[in-house]
Order: sequence, then C-alpha cells, then structure tokens
Amino acid sequence: MRALITGITGQDGSYLAEHLLSLGYEVWGLVRGQANPRVSRLRRLLKDVQLVRGDLLDQTSLMSAVEKVQPDEVYNLGAISFVPMSWEQAELTAEVTGMGVLRMLEAVRRRPGTRFYQASSSEMFGQVRETPQNERTPFHPRSPYGVAKAYGHFLTQNYRESYGMHAVSGILFNHESPRRGAEFVTRKVTLGVARIKLGLASELRLGNLSARRDWGFAGDYVRAMHLMLQSPEPEDYVIGTGRTQSVRELVEAAFTAAGLSYEDHVVSDETLYRPAEVDLLCADPKKARVQLGWEPTVPFEELVAMMVEADIRLLTDGRDPEQDASWG
Ligand code: NAP
Ligand code: GDD
Repeated sequence: MRALITGITGQDGSYLAEHLLSLGYEVWGLVRGQANPRVSRLRRLLKDVQLVRGDLLDQTSLMSAVEKVQPDEVYNLGAISFVPMSWEQAELTAEVTGMGVLRMLEAVRRRPGTRFYQASSSEMFGQVRETPQNERTPFHPRSPYGVAKAYGHFLTQNYRESYGMHAVSGILFNHESPRRGAEFVTRKVTLGVARIKLGLASELRLGNLSARRDWGFAGDYVRAMHLMLQSPEPEDYVIGTGRTQSVRELVEAAFTAAGLSYEDHVVSDETLYRPAEVDLLCADPKKARVQLGWEPTVPFEELVAMMVEADIRLLTDGRDPEQDASWG
C-alpha cells in the first residue's frame, strides 16, 4: 500500500507516517516551499518517508504529486491549524484550510479507487448545540478556521455523494503530544512549566482559563485515521475521549506534574482572549468504538505528565523549543 500525506511536517503527519511505516506502507509526504526547515527535522525522525513537492494553494502541483505518487490512500492533514491566526489571515485560511480540500479532492478524483481522508475538526461544532457532540450534532463554527473546516467537511461528503469516492472525514477533537506546536495551549503550558521548573522564567501568561476541551494523545488519533480508510463503507467519525477539562485544570495538572503550584505563576491576560470563543467541547466517540474498534489509550493526566517531562528534558539538553518543539 502507498499513502500520500499532506501536512507531513506537522504533529499528526509525523505520527501518521510512523504508524503507516510500521504497517508496511510506502509513505510519501507533500512538502511546500523551497527551503522548509521542518523537512530536515522530519528527515531526522523518519528516514523512510519519501517527499514530493506541492502546495495546497497550487492545483497543478497537487495534480502532479498525485500523478507521481499514484497513492492508494491520501490523508489531507495540511492546513493553517492555529485558530487565532485564522482571524488575522482569514482569506489565507479560507484558501489553505478550505479551498485546499477542494484542490486535493479534484486531484484525487482523477485517480479512481484512491481513498481520501479529510482532517475535519471539533472546532466546527463551535457554540455547541448539544453535549457530548456526535456525528449528527449540527455545526456552529466560531472562527474563520472553523468555517473553513466546515466547508472542507461538507465538500468531502459532497464528492463522496457526487462521484462515489471513498472519501471520509474524521471529526477529531483536540489531540496533543510532545511534538505539538508551541503555540497551542497544552504545549505552551508544558513548555512554560519546564521553563519555570528550571529557573528560566517565573510567569506564564494565558488567555481564557475557563474554556473546556476534550484532550487526547495524537498517537492514538492517527490510528483512527487509518482505521477509517479501511472500513468497507466511507463514513464520517467523531474521535475523542469523551472527557472534558478546563484550561485551568490543564494548568493545574501540568504544574502539579512538576511539583509546582500554578497559582504562584499563572496570569490570565485578556489580550489573549479570542474574538469568539468555543467554550466547551466533549466528544461522543461511540460510533468509532463500535464500528472501528477504536479506543484512546492515554488518559489526560498521563498525557500532560508526558509532555511536561519531555519539555523539561528538551530544555535541560539545551535544545531550542522554537526549532525542535514539534519533534521532541
Ligand atoms: P500542524 O502541526 O499545524 O500541521 C499543519 C501542516 O499543514 C504542516 O505540515 C504544514 O506544513 C502544512 N501546511 C500549511 N500550509 C500548507 C500549504 N499551503 N500547503 C501544504 N501544506 C501546508 O497541524 P496538526 O496538529 O498536525 O493537525 C493536522 C490536521 O488536523 C490539520 O488539518 C488540523 O487543522 C487538523 N486537526 C487537528 C487537531 C489537533 O488537535 N491537532 C484536531 C482536529 C483537526 P509546513 O511545515 O510547510 O508549514
Ligand atoms: N493557544 C492558546 N494560548 N490557547 C489558550 C491560551 C493561550 O495562551 N489561553 C487559553 N487558551 C484557550 C483557548 O482560548 C482555547 O479555548 C483553548 O485554550 C485551546 O486552544 P488551542 O490549544 O489553541 O486549541 P484550539 O481548541 O483552539 O484548536 C485546536 O484544536 C482544534 C480541534 O478542536 C487546533 O489543533 C485546531 O487545529 C483543531 O482543529
């Protein structure tokens, strides 16, 4: 089996590539830019991945990539994925995170039989209509990112219905790891804790501490992506743990894991609040459990402790978290 992954240099791309390689796949990753520094870090981690150039903004490059790789499965993980950036660069987010899905589907449509996975997001539920959220819960996105993801989600469904493509969307809730980008709250917190623990900082400034998320481990979630494409019928699935914690609880768990007290260090800064917030996310992953046999294996507290430990090690070794953040 041959797989093509867009977004291979991101958190999920690296875990998915590792997983598919372990299953005996030939793995290709789409990379953009003439000198993308994350590619060399990916190379250090995954020597067996082959790379093909392309950009989600450039239809011709995607057609050429699919033509060159001739994949059995395509995983479309590439996106502008940081929600606050989607207000600052709303048009670019629409182009990459939204229209990029159209361009990939068009490239894949020309190769009948290729299975397609779209990285949809719980951010589409936004101001939630019910809790927990399942595959039938209506969307009310609260950011340009969420709106772009909803477009990609519906388009994937539409290509499945219009052209009979084996195209599925995984509606994934937040998933984290030591390879998470430093801009996301879990990693910002665990890096902040590591800096404070090592005497490199004394304060951690955060935004809204009351928001709640359903946080799981990225390594578990990429297994679900693969399982979805093996199912005989193309269907969409919600993937999450079914538990929800507040940012405050995340902070408390991270500081406790390092033997510190968060009240001594954390400052809530209103300038970091979002124009519109998603207050609560909590998955109902029953369909994935029953139909795919998928279960998360890393509980929240263990995930946070794993990330704190990895960041203390990273900083102790003198590595630069801005350079090495995503790659532990
Ligand atoms: P990530 O670490 O931010 O990675 C994003 C990837 O997209 C990077 O490899 C980036 O490549 C690539 N990319 C950006 N612009 C591109 C373009 N114009 N053309 C081609 N590739 C481009 O994201 P992640 O956490 O791994 O998430 C993977 C996917 O799942 C994303 O679509 C995200 O929106 C979605 N998702 C994530 C979560 C989560 O909790 N992690 C939950 C639900 C859905 P460069 O190295 O070139 O920048
Ligand atoms: N990033 C960040 N930084 N978030 C903060 C901070 C802070 O200083 N303080 C509080 N938060 C809150 C945010 O307001 C949000 O409610 C929550 O922490 C989580 O923020 P992020 O970690 O940035 O993730 P996200 O939920 O906005 O988006 C992630 O998950 C989505 C799935 O639900 C991203 O990975 C998206 O790409 C993904 O689709």
